[in-house]
Amino acid sequence: MRHLMSPLDFSVEELYQLLDLAEDIKLAPAKYAHACDGKILATCFYEPSTRTRLSFESAMLRLGGNVLGFASADSSSAAKGESVSDTIRMISAYADICAMRHSKEGAPMVAASKSSIPVINAGDGGHQHPTQTLTDLLTIRSLKGRLTNLTIGLCGDLKFGRTVHSLINALLRYKDIRFVFISPKELRIPSYIQEDILTKNNIPFQEVIRLEDVLPQLDLLYMTRVQRERFFNEEDYVRLKDFYILNKEKMELAKEDMLILHPLPRVNEISVEVDSDPRAVYFQQVQYGLYVRMALILTLLEISL
Ligand code: NCD
Repeated sequence: MRHLMSPLDFSVEELYQLLDLAEDIKLAPAKYAHACDGKILATCFYEPSTRTRLSFESAMLRLGGNVLGFASADSSSAAKGESVSDTIRMISAYADICAMRHSKEGAPMVAASKSSIPVINAGDGGHQHPTQTLTDLLTIRSLKGRLTNLTIGLCGDLKFGRTVHSLINALLRYKDIRFVFISPKELRIPSYIQEDILTKNNIPFQEVIRLEDVLPQLDLLYMTRVQRERFFNEEDYVRLKDFYILNKEKMELAKEDMLILHPLPRVNEISVEVDSDPRAVYFQQVQYGLYVRMALILTLLEISL
């Protein structure tokens, strides 16, 4: 039995197969409409979510399966003090696969160690968000045609943003990837990622504060929200929340084929006027997220047509 805790749980080869499967589902969804008949997905979300939870549920329903679960810690027995380990033992009796989001780093890993069904990490604190990364990889591969030879700007909250941490981990395995980290100094990429991951693997990277200075060299711009819920005080959040606002004027500096990705939710970091720019692909990214989660459910349940 397999779980998904980090994007590195799949080999490069397995990842390609998963993305191929997602693309096939996109082309011929009807073929998969009953692939999960009789199966149940549990969504155990201890932290707020719109896209991730609903896309998991939609993915399972579109595969013919059923879903159950909870959308906040308050509405589950966690409010009574039940541990994640006990909860997953019980969920294992009710469902065939579980997607779990938790504010504590490592909680889904603890669950996986006690589970008799596959567990998917749907985001653990500021640590990892592997299914967002699968979504990002599918979006990049489909719209850019490659996962190699890319200059990727990551902008915003690089300290707490788990989507950024997961994406960096996954992209290191492809050739000729260069990162440009764009953040205020308070929200810099953690030093463990710089030292243990990037420097160790000889991945070129650059750190800057001003987005305008680097926009012209980017093939991809991955924007992120400043993560209010992970700040220790409101004052710092208020000071940093509008540090970056991507608007039409700034987009004039970008390459004609640069893509803008964003895991969403967006707050103010991309002004709505940019949404109609053909380079803005964050809503298409949401659609890719659905197909990749369908592919992931099939893969972890070892269902092939
Ligand atoms: C992200 C997350 O939860 O980390 N959202 C998502 O799942 N698409 C990003 C965010 O909340 O800012």
